[in-house]
Amino acid sequence: MYYIKVNRTFTRKYYDGGSNRMSMKYPEFPDDVTYTPIGEILSSRVKGNVKLRGWIYRTRSSGKLAFVIIRDSTGIIQCTVSKNNVDKSDFVNAGKALVESSVVLDGLVVADERAPGGFEIRATSFNVVHFAEAFPITKDQSDEHLLNNRHLWLRSRNMVSALKIRSTVFKAFRDYWQNLDYTEIQSPSFTTSACEGGSTLFNVHYDDETEKSGQKFYAHLSQSWQLYAEASMFGLENIFTVAPSFRAEKSRTRRHLTEFWHAEVEAAWTHNHQMMEFEEGMIVYIIKKVLEENRSELEQLGRDISVLENIKAPFDKMKYEEVIDKLNSMGFDLAWGDDFGYKEEKALTQNLKSPVYITNFPREKGFYHRPDPSDPKSLVCHDLLAPEGYGEIIGGGERVWSPDELVERIREEGLEPESYGWYLDIRKFGSVPHSGFGLGLDRTVSWICGSDHIKHVIPFPRTMRRTTP
Ligand code: 4AD
Ligand code: MG
Repeated sequence: MYYIKVNRTFTRKYYDGGSNRMSMKYPEFPDDVTYTPIGEILSSRVKGNVKLRGWIYRTRSSGKLAFVIIRDSTGIIQCTVSKNNVDKSDFVNAGKALVESSVVLDGLVVADERAPGGFEIRATSFNVVHFAEAFPITKDQSDEHLLNNRHLWLRSRNMVSALKIRSTVFKAFRDYWQNLDYTEIQSPSFTTSACEGGSTLFNVHYDDETEKSGQKFYAHLSQSWQLYAEASMFGLENIFTVAPSFRAEKSRTRRHLTEFWHAEVEAAWTHNHQMMEFEEGMIVYIIKKVLEENRSELEQLGRDISVLENIKAPFDKMKYEEVIDKLNSMGFDLAWGDDFGYKEEKALTQNLKSPVYITNFPREKGFYHRPDPSDPKSLVCHDLLAPEGYGEIIGGGERVWSPDELVERIREEGLEPESYGWYLDIRKFGSVPHSGFGLGLDRTVSWICGSDHIKHVIPFPRTMRRTTP
């Protein structure tokens, strides 16, 4: 028997069968030490002598003094290592250690206007835990280089800020629906039913090697949990999920990923307009939480925070046909039935400061949307478009809930009712009006961060041309 215990202060203890007991420190750090997060110093909560640990962010030295900027997950701070104040070897190492070397140090916090953040640390000891090799990312690197080195670029200030905001957005989404007593449930990623049309389906093939027949199986990767949500809804009534969805997107735009994070909601006994009100509340809640938790990250990213502060429900609403007229008056040439792409949504939203709903889309939008009983050429559904040129972040609406109408709609879209067997089956046993939506989390974070591309807000972006690192 053998186990390893790792605690927060880097002490590792190895026990070997109880007989050969040994204790190894890695490296020589005492395990009863409190380290101060840099953010605590910058916000003036900690003064005097501190112990820090982190990585070298920038470094330069001259004669008797090394200026080393240290970063941890909470901020960056300048540290001066003077030949007169530390051991000789500490001074030599401080001068030698390259960017991204990991360090542990002691020092005195001193207010200094010239230092970034207004404080600096005068080191009294400076230990290099690991000397980094030459870091492959320096100033002014191409996007391609940064993407190839994404595993390292994740340490950058902007990535860290975006990922903290992303975490707040995910949590706020969950909290909002949990507070409304919705239940979180999961659906499979392997499926054989297309939810959002065939053109963006990823196919997966595999052989069943346990079968002598050498049978081949195939499936698609899920584009949306929706069909499974509609089945699960009959038991749980009000549900949500947070999961990846997959789309073989031909369009290479600043808002398309092939694997994106999809936050979806489905509710029984709920109409389209009610779901739209819940969604407005959700967007306002998510933004409120980001403003509470992530002001410094928004500042780091250069976001115009006043836009976020001014977002209030209710949001403006436009019908599809009004949008067509508006876009045509701006020089587009659109007819009833045409879909909007990024170009159209950008034009429509770039001067807006608040999200806008588009409702009453034409029937072609999807087989599962419920046609409007008072105007059957359009659907009881909606998209929500983020302002400032970002465009669609939500697609949702009321579902066809009559079994016969659903078969008719599937045929109308050129699909085969046979391939929707179980989905049709759920309509046969006590069908009810219901509505739901999908929120693109990466797009939402991209908008909230004011990012110019969706790839800047997801740790390892996946596109048609990128599956690594
Ligand atoms: O509008 P969509 O296609 O709607 C659905 O999938 C519904 N079945 C959802 C539902 O009602 N449960 O996708 C929903 C949202 C979009 O508004 C967009 O924000 C995001 O998912 N999305 C993407 N985000 C990043 N990259 C892509 N390729 C995306 N495709 C959709
Ligand atoms: Mg959509």
